[in-house]
Amino acid sequence: MHVFQPVDPVDIEQGAYTFDGTKFLVTAGSGGKVNTTTAKWGGAGFLWNKRVVYIFLRGGRYTSELLDESGEFSLSFLNQQEFRGAFKYLEAVSGRAEDKIAGARLTVNYDDGIPFIDEADNVITAKVLYKKEFREDGFVDKSLVDEFEKNGEYHIVYVGEIKKIMIR
Ligand SMILES: Cc1cc2nc3c(=O)[nH]c(=O)nc-3n(C[C@H](O)[C@H](O)[C@H](O)COP(=O)(O)O)c2cc1C
Repeated sequence: MHVFQPVDPVDIEQGAYTFDGTKFLVTAGSGGKVNTTTAKWGGAGFLWNKRVVYIFLRGGRYTSELLDESGEFSLSFLNQQEFRGAFKYLEAVSGRAEDKIAGARLTVNYDDGIPFIDEADNVITAKVLYKKEFREDGFVDKSLVDEFEKNGEYHIVYVGEIKKIMIR
């Protein structure tokens, strides 16, 4: 028999991109408009023989509207401390009402037409492969519905094929 050592999941998740509750920015643009929003749910993995990222946006977000129109998005990973104020601002305001990115004093850059946040240390650009809203009947653990999905619209899962990973 082989000997297996238990590893803390945290240790294997540490990498250039950590999806562990660390905040990142989801950015999308369409028709000359660009918006970004703070998110913390997501991950990177392998699906349909492709390298993918997946994120979860609540229905009704302006960011998801632009993302649906363009079919593309980016994830920007910024220094948590340095951009604390920007994250807070982007959580609190909707891009429907104003130019959030300018309001947060951030800058838009583009790679192959996909907008991302220039102040980021790491960026992933992606093309949407799949999107679907969570449904109550899919939840095996119903307590999650009450805790996370009942105060508004259900989250939409977006699976995106990674187009490029950029490190500054
Ligand atoms: C710590 C934190 C994490 C968040 N993560 C998400 C997320 O993963 N998905 C989401 O849809 N909204 C998330 N939000 C809420 C959005 O940031 C917020 O509703 C924002 O104002 C939406 O802006 P928009 O309408 O311009 O897209 C989060 C908020 C906070 C405070």
